[in-house]
Amino acid sequence: INGKQKNIVWHDCPVTKSDRQELIKQKGCVIWITGLSGSGKSSLACALSRALHNRGKLSYILDGDNVRHGLNSDLSFEADDRAENIRRVGEVAKLFADSGIICIASLISPYRIERAACRALLPQGDFIEVFMDVPLHVCEARDPKGLYKRARAGKIKGFTGVDDPYEAPLDCEIVIQNSRDKGLSSSSSSSSSPSSSSSSL
Ligand code: PPS
Repeated sequence: INGKQKNIVWHDCPVTKSDRQELIKQKGCVIWITGLSGSGKSSLACALSRALHNRGKLSYILDGDNVRHGLNSDLSFEADDRAENIRRVGEVAKLFADSGIICIASLISPYRIERAACRALLPQGDFIEVFMDVPLHVCEARDPKGLYKRARAGKIKGFTGVDDPYEAPLDCEIVIQNSRDKGLSSSSSSSSSPSSSSSSL
């Protein structure tokens, strides 16, 4: 609770998290996908949600682009607003997980400290961080929305990877080296030797 909040008292409900999980026969968690624009976060989120759905598991995607159309439509790409964007999505993801749903959050989420704060909201083991380990030059060659081109032309200021930072995870649950298409190599990977397992799409 921050300094603006006064006279606020937590109210418990007799229907518990385990009651909800028992009802829908699954355990909620957060799968947090981080990576540069064009690294394949949204595609992975959709494929994962489809795979879970096909196995009878309830999931829900919180995609950065989409959430910025509503809940976070007041936020820019300045550092403070990105931090607030991540904080809000982290809090909402926690509520989904608390309801028993597998919440797939797909955001650039460029700052380690904010991702760590989201992790800290969940019980240990319930926050699975997935790093889309795709070098900038690969994302830039893909440029599915033409945003890198606009950023290089100076038409977008503060674009992640171009003139705004991206802090790759140092230690996360899953690393995906998703650079195979277009024959582009991932040898100049942006990751700083994460100690976690690595796989390819
Ligand atoms: S963040 O950094 O986590 O707050 O970003 P996020 O909410 O995931 O939103 C990223 C999408 O916004 C578009 N976009 C930008 N990205 C990075 N930097 C700047 N300045 C920017 N402006 C717009 C872009 O389409 C991102 O979508 P993805 O899916 O990552 O390509």
